[in-house]
Amino acid sequence: MTSKAHGGDLVNRQVTGTEREKALKNAETLSSLFISDWAISDLELIGIGGFSPLTGFLGQKDYESVVHTSRLSNGTVWSVPITLSVTAEEADSYEVGDEIALKGEDGAIYGTLQLTEKYTYDKQLEAEKIYGTTEEAHAGVKKLYERGDVYLAGPITLLNRPDHSEFEEFHLDPVETRQLFQELGWKTIVGFQTRNPVHRAHEYIQKAALEVVDGLLLNPLVGETKSDDISAAVRMESYQVILKHYYPADRARLAIYPAAMRYAGPKEAVLHAIVRKNYGCTHFIVGRDHAGVGDYYGTYEAQEFISQFEDELGIQIFKFEHSFYCNACENMATAKTCPHTAENHVHLSGTKVRELLRNGEKPPKQFSRPEVADVLIKGLRETVISN
Ligand code: ADX
Repeated sequence: MTSKAHGGDLVNRQVTGTEREKALKNAETLSSLFISDWAISDLELIGIGGFSPLTGFLGQKDYESVVHTSRLSNGTVWSVPITLSVTAEEADSYEVGDEIALKGEDGAIYGTLQLTEKYTYDKQLEAEKIYGTTEEAHAGVKKLYERGDVYLAGPITLLNRPDHSEFEEFHLDPVETRQLFQELGWKTIVGFQTRNPVHRAHEYIQKAALEVVDGLLLNPLVGETKSDDISAAVRMESYQVILKHYYPADRARLAIYPAAMRYAGPKEAVLHAIVRKNYGCTHFIVGRDHAGVGDYYGTYEAQEFISQFEDELGIQIFKFEHSFYCNACENMATAKTCPHTAENHVHLSGTKVRELLRNGEKPPKQFSRPEVADVLIKGLRETVISN
């Protein structure tokens, strides 16, 4: 039994074979628009059904509904607007009714947009509603402020995929992960979002979930992240290493989530859960400060926010408290399972960990598996050399 996609059927806006060839030929005759890598990743996720039930970039009615109510205008839960921005000058060069070829900076045509609407929007309002702040210091808000002032809306067709050859083996579309789960005989699957290497705390909550479900989909986000996050290439190597050494081979699978990171905390947690439902997961983990950045969100704000939609999301949420290694317990634990005081708990900030790794030092094994630390140290060294 495969679970339902969000809002109904899994969307497929890709064309293949001769139909694709014809569509590409036709697209070459259309007026074109150059779009960012971020927009290409949204286009891809719409095309492959990761963003089901969306079939295109949001029109104004849905946009306003999402911003104000975290729902599409038909009532379906949807927490982050998926939009295509252009400058006012660019917008003037297209008419509603146009079909537009969407090109990447490499000149390739990634898809087409059937333009149904153009509308202006209030960036400050979107920032406040989606990110909970209007401060430019917030990585997601900064991106928003850099966008053009007009949104173009309409259904899309996906004609080319961005290059994922680097992670080919782990590049599975929602139809493929659903098929894989069936082949593996997994009926319950927990999805795990991450933009970091898997440290002991991540491993602990994944394995706690694995105690009660059939399988784990380790589903790291590999699209655009902020510059001080560890690169996807290094992370992918670290995931393979930890899976090999510490996970039973028949109970965990690695697949990439080709999206950009928005750092929208609570709102992004809901989006992340919906997308994993579309990939066929039945459960999804929301831990401490999910999709957070700096101290913009409370530790459990994402868990509290997602709770209001739990009855209708169609994917069960596993909420985990802040996890740590306790020297007195000699175990991973949370406040729910450990009676000892904070000085027994191993806490390392992200900044501290990066500093250790950059100096070629391994964080304590209570924090990170040594095999993972080795990959990160090597990866960071190579990044520094190649820069
Ligand atoms: S995120 O931006 O993708 O959320 P990260 O990769 O650090 O960042 O987290 C992945 C998942 O693990 C999220 O659900 C997050 O809440 C959870 N998580 C990260 N660290 C901890 C921790 N120490 N304790 C509990 N949950 C955690």
